Formats: sequence, C-alpha cells, structure tokens
Amino acid sequence: MILTVTLNTALDVTWDVESLRPRTSHRVDTAYERAGGKGVNVARVLTSLGQLPLATGLVGGPTGRLIREELRAAGVREAFLDIAGDSRRTLAVVSRDDGDATVFNGRGPHVDPAEWELFRRHYASLLTDARVVVLSGSLPPGVPTDAYARLIRTAEAAGVATVLDASGPALVEALAARPDVIKPNADEITAATGHDDLPAAAAALRALGAGAVVASAGADGLYAITPEGTWRAAPPERLAGNPTGAGDACVAAIAAGLAAGCPWPEILRQAVALSAAAVPCPVAGDVDTAVHRRLLPHVAVVEDSAACASTPKPAR
Ligand SMILES: Nc1ncnc2c1ncn2[C@@H]1O[C@H](COP(=O)(O)OP(=O)(O)OP(=O)(O)O)[C@@H](O)[C@H]1O
Ligand SMILES: [Mg+2]
Repeated sequence: MILTVTLNTALDVTWDVESLRPRTSHRVDTAYERAGGKGVNVARVLTSLGQLPLATGLVGGPTGRLIREELRAAGVREAFLDIAGDSRRTLAVVSRDDGDATVFNGRGPHVDPAEWELFRRHYASLLTDARVVVLSGSLPPGVPTDAYARLIRTAEAAGVATVLDASGPALVEALAARPDVIKPNADEITAATGHDDLPAAAAALRALGAGAVVASAGADGLYAITPEGTWRAAPPERLAGNPTGAGDACVAAIAAGLAAGCPWPEILRQAVALSAAAVPCPVAGDVDTAVHRRLLPHVAVVEDSAACASTPKPAR
C-alpha cells in the first residue's frame, strides 16, 4: 500500500468568471470545490490508476469535514487525523477570456504541539501496512520545520521507502534524514542549492543525503540521479493546458514504481508519461489516462553516463 501524507490539506475552490477585472464585482458562473493539497492529489492519481492508496494528514473544522466528504465521494481512502483548527481553502479564479487563473492560498490552521505528537503516533501505526510513503507539500503553522525529517526516520525504522516533495527549509532539513527519493522542480532545486544548472543542483542535493533526486523541469521532463544511474527522461511533445499538479502525478508514478520494485528507467518513463497526462486536465489530481497510454511508448529515457561517473554518492 502507498501512504500519502498531506499536513496542510485544503479545500480547493475554483470559480469561473467571464473576465477577471480587479476592483470590480463579478458574477461567478460555475464554482467547484474539492479536496486538495499535494499528497491528496497524489492519492487521487493513484486511485485513478486502480491502486488503493491511503491518504493521511491533518484536517479540521467545517472545512475539514467537507474535505473528508469529498474524498469519500471520490473513492479516495482516507485516514486523516482531526485537529481543532479549520482546514484552509485555496481559491482559483479562472478568467474565461484569457484562460488565466488568479490563485489565493490560505496559510492553514495552527497545529499545536499535542496535535503534532498525536499525528506522529497515528502515522507510525499506518506505516505497518505501507511499502512506500509520500510526504508532500507545505507545513501548516505550528508544525516544526524538521517535521519531514522526523517522519522519514520513522518510515525508515519501519522499512518503508520515502518519497518527499517539499520545498524551502522543509526540504533542506529533511535531507539529513536521507529520504529515498526527492522530487524538486527547477525553482525549488535552485532555491535549495543556489545552482541554476539542474545536474549540478541535483548532485548537490544528493550529496546532502537524498537517495535519488528526480528533478523536474516542466515540458523538458526529468533529470534523475539515482543509486542505479543518472538519466534524462523527456516527453515526446509539449502539452497545452494546466501544468499545476503535473508534479503530483510525477510523484504518484515514482511511488507506484518503487512499490512495484521497477527499475529506475521504467519508473522515469512512467513518471514522464503520467505527469504529461496531467497537463490537459484542468484540475490538479486528475490525469488523462488515454494521453498517458499514448505517450508512454514515446518517452525518451537516456542515460547520462558522464554524470554517473562523476556524481558523488552520499554515505548511506
Ligand atoms: N507542458 C508540458 N508538456 C509535457 N509534459 C509536461 C509539461 N509540463 C510538465 N510536464 C511533465 O510534468 C513533470 C512535472 O512538471 P513540473 O516540473 O512543472 O512539476 P511541478 O512544478 O512540481 O508541478 P506541481 O504544480 O504539481 O508542483 C515534468 O517533469 C514533465 O514530465
Ligand atoms: Mg511540485
């Protein structure tokens, strides 16, 4: 089983308007609400592939109840822990005239130390049935920045592989706990290392403790330094649509590949095809399975043998 962890779960609200004009009133033509947050999106993608992942994390208040209800209706198994604070909302206002989205992200409820401690115990109990755990997204206020480091150490002690998709201090502090895989995008990897060059930045993060670094670069695909070798993997074409959530589909494919014991080139091929298949879908957490099947045979996975020879390996 794949366990996904979303500490700052959200109710993602999308409003569709004719044309967004600041400082004026708007008629909202359609409004959608659904459970979100990166780990939730990963669980959704895995569920649509026919897997039975379990989504956990923190939810609270009336918004938390709506999140749970929506997940149940969508057939996503969940075991969230309730907290006192109200879960956050995000609002995307989509303007039909230009297709642009303006997004407002709530910060999330304050989590007190007792709630965080309870979650750590709850999480440890869920690990007993897991092969892989996905730790994704921002930390809500009150959760310490070494949260992912702690959760990774608990997973390692339980023999469960870890995939981390985080940024900033939450990512940097987690590296000391040696996550099996991290999946930063180009901006996150530059922010964490100061390198613009993807291979140099990925090598720097791996030297700090990650077992494998799968760096994503939008339509250019992936650059991956793994214990089995270093590869570039690219989609056969640039897809049009909404790339938000492509990274979550990429993480879903990595987790599924690790759980199935696939070799890295196959994991990367799947990750590129599945993440590209998220782009034509307007909402994060959805993938177009027909696009996935169509692209899969055409994904180029090329070994970067020069990098392989020169990459420093972390002491594990
Ligand atoms: N326009 C596109 N066409 C084809 N594939 C794409 C496109 N955009 C993204 N992808 C695929 O999705 C992967 C992840 O994309 P990206 O680097 O944008 O992730 P991200 O910024 O982490 O996304 P997220 O919003 O989910 O956090 C890429 O490595 C690539 O395989
Ligand atoms: Mg991302």
